[in-house]
Amino acid sequence: MVKKSGRPSPSAAPRGEISTGTSADRALLPSSRSPGAGAVELLRFTTAGSVDDGKSTLIGRLLLDTKALYEDQLEAVKRASQRRGDPYVDLALITDGLRAEREQGITIDVAYRYFSTPKRKFIIADTPGHIQYTRNMVTGASTAELAVVLIDARKGVVTQSKRHSFIASLLRIPHLVVAVNKMDLVGYSQEVYEAIVAEFKAFARKLEVQDVVYIPISALHGDNVVEPSSRMPWYDGATLLHHLETVNVGAGRNVVDFRFPVQYVVRPHQDFRGFAGQVVSGRVAVGEEVVVLPSGLRSRVQRILVGDREVQRAGVGEAAVLTLEDQVDISRGDMLVRVRNLPQRAHRIDAILCWMDEAAMDPQKTYWLQHTTRQVRALISEVTYRIHVDTMHREAAETLHLNEIGRVQLATTEPLFFDSYRRNRATGSFILIDPFTHNTVAAGMIRGPVTDLEDVVVSVAPARQRSRDVVWEQTGVTREMQEQLKGHKAAVLWFTGLSGSGKSTVARRLEERLHRMGVHTFRLDGDNLRHGLNGDLGFSPEDRKENIRRAAEVAKLAFEHGNLVLASFISPYRADREFARGLVPPGRFLEIYVKCDIEVCKRRDPKGLYARALRGEIRNFTGIDAPYEEPGAPELVVETDLRSTEEIVAQIVEELLRRGILERTG
Ligand code: ADX
Repeated sequence: MVKKSGRPSPSAAPRGEISTGTSADRALLPSSRSPGAGAVELLRFTTAGSVDDGKSTLIGRLLLDTKALYEDQLEAVKRASQRRGDPYVDLALITDGLRAEREQGITIDVAYRYFSTPKRKFIIADTPGHIQYTRNMVTGASTAELAVVLIDARKGVVTQSKRHSFIASLLRIPHLVVAVNKMDLVGYSQEVYEAIVAEFKAFARKLEVQDVVYIPISALHGDNVVEPSSRMPWYDGATLLHHLETVNVGAGRNVVDFRFPVQYVVRPHQDFRGFAGQVVSGRVAVGEEVVVLPSGLRSRVQRILVGDREVQRAGVGEAAVLTLEDQVDISRGDMLVRVRNLPQRAHRIDAILCWMDEAAMDPQKTYWLQHTTRQVRALISEVTYRIHVDTMHREAAETLHLNEIGRVQLATTEPLFFDSYRRNRATGSFILIDPFTHNTVAAGMIRGPVTDLEDVVVSVAPARQRSRDVVWEQTGVTREMQEQLKGHKAAVLWFTGLSGSGKSTVARRLEERLHRMGVHTFRLDGDNLRHGLNGDLGFSPEDRKENIRRAAEVAKLAFEHGNLVLASFISPYRADREFARGLVPPGRFLEIYVKCDIEVCKRRDPKGLYARALRGEIRNFTGIDAPYEEPGAPELVVETDLRSTEEIVAQIVEELLRRGILERTG
């Protein structure tokens, strides 16, 4: 029976329709995550298939057979089918009709449809199979707990099937259903079905999917979709709907690690200060001690409100307002976690990235990285490899284009607090946003922090000319001994940036601060060195190279004596900076990009040199008629046009502590 138009029964599902949350911008963000366990369980699943393998028909069949359609909708589809001379009611018209209804005027990436049975509610993220398939699938699948991959029984396992399954595995969707469709067109043949299952199994061994179920169906005739098929007596498994109703939801949820990214602060009056957000994983109870990140301040949970109810605990998926016993400063983007269960912290991240924008990734560009409720700026410092999705081979790449997937390293301006995606889909995922177009350009899954190779790799200094007749004077006092005496590790902080960006100012203030902390420093500065040691050099590329070579060699000597070297040079050429880096062991060279908009530098113009360069009185001036090659993967980026010198000094000291170059005392 089909429902009467306009009078859905109270228990019935809403009609198949598209939610408002269809934009790719919501991909992977907590706001689009599944709500908590309500009275009726909810299963979010996604369907993927290539063009013509019957995806629309399947969705139409599910909506029809679970009576999620109105009579007038069905009538319209019947009439349209007759007009087209179709022998059957074309179920795809239901799905495609609904999609077309909504596609007018807006770009739709994923259409969400709802239906329910007495056992469960379902949300299908229907991802159109055309051009932007990867992007669509990533968007639709990011919150799904199950993926249906459709295979046309006549065609078998094709590239698209593999691609979809691979993405499902990348996104760590816990359940996969391989629906072998159009069984009617192969005479409901068991052999055909089994050959496809065998082929898919061979491929699936390379994937990381925990649970794969195979079902032979005919979406057109309804075999094994909602009703069991009498035409395939050899199949004794569940129908698709039965499987959807009984599959163990929540298998992929992290119930262990309490993570509560703060969405906003609720302050209705002076006496109430609550923090609103979603428990994206784990659970929390009144009285528990929590720590606020990034500040590290601790307090205890005083009250928990879910909706307008006061509760004792809240669990994964629930939206809640928490109040704390102490007055701690918390704002949007902060995260509450348990004291003894902290996420990882890093500002260099190793991640898998699915590129979703028409414009290819630009390694020179700064993107906004949205991670839980927090936004930081990020550079893609390296494309480690691209994954050829059909063969799953790794290949060298400089960039990623639309629909491409690769492993990358990102450098963020502020540290991220995260878990690996493998452990936690909520705190292990992020999106990248183009700061100019505001497009969501990529979805990312964090593998971990970029590992430091200090203990693994020995420093390899580039070969250079030197007299054969000199031998290195072995000192009896080693750097390690020097470091022990001084109470901190030696390192080279290499400040690079435009003239007037504030390199020397930052280095000077940092030196004062370090001095007060009892740290042995050694400062080298372009302007000063050019008065003595490098007084013979000008600003041609060759002279700059020699300038940096000498400066780097001096930095190395001071480093070997256990000092924290602060070197500030424009050092506009990447190769020269790499040379300096190569002189000290990995992990001990921190390239600090002192970033400042050139217009701001011009305005500051502390020595009046920009004005002179612009008048043509000085040649080869960096940023005017000589290049500045931005660092590709600096250890730190400090923005003097956005932050105060104090803040930057604190940022650098924090980084030195984090890296264990300095030790926290007291
Ligand atoms: S570098 O390019 O070789 O690294 P370095 O840091 O040593 O430069 O010296 C830069 C300083 O020299 C600037 O701060 C500025 O005061 C001065 N200077 C004079 N002429 C130039 C020029 N053509 N380009 C850049 N800096 C110049």
